[in-house]
Amino acid sequence: AKLLVLHGPNLNLLGVREPDIYGRETLADINNQLAQRAQAAGHDLAWYQSNAEHELIGRIHQARDEQVACIVINPGAFTHTSIALRDALAAVAIPFIEVHMSNVHAREPFRRHSYLSDLAMGVICGFGSHSYRLGLDAALAKLEPTPA
Ligand code: DQA
Repeated sequence: AKLLVLHGPNLNLLGVREPDIYGRETLADINNQLAQRAQAAGHDLAWYQSNAEHELIGRIHQARDEQVACIVINPGAFTHTSIALRDALAAVAIPFIEVHMSNVHAREPFRRHSYLSDLAMGVICGFGSHSYRLGLDAALAKLEPTPA
């Protein structure tokens, strides 16, 4: 199946940006690891990063045309601001997993609210780059349900 990993604003600066919070791995490191993991499980993983809300929305619309089965998204600060991103995910009705590298509940109060979480299959936060891996594993588990 096709999987899409979306990264929101400022995540292009991973590895450089506030390394005490976000770690030293770059976005390329993370994407390569995720792509390898998905491929090993027999799936196709694409990724996309943008600092612009409308580009992320466009990429979500495109995912419907591509029949993407599941989205793993770190919406960055748009988590806390974007009704438009929420509406886009609702519109395409592709199951998604929300991930954050930092523990958004242990930071400023404005990071505790997400416009996406109640629509998400689940939310993972606080594990650095592992948050993405855990999010991908959750997506893979959904694609290959263990037989009852
Ligand atoms: C983030 C948390 C957000 O609050 C912040 O605006 C980010 C990154 C995270 O991965 O921890 O840009 O989504």
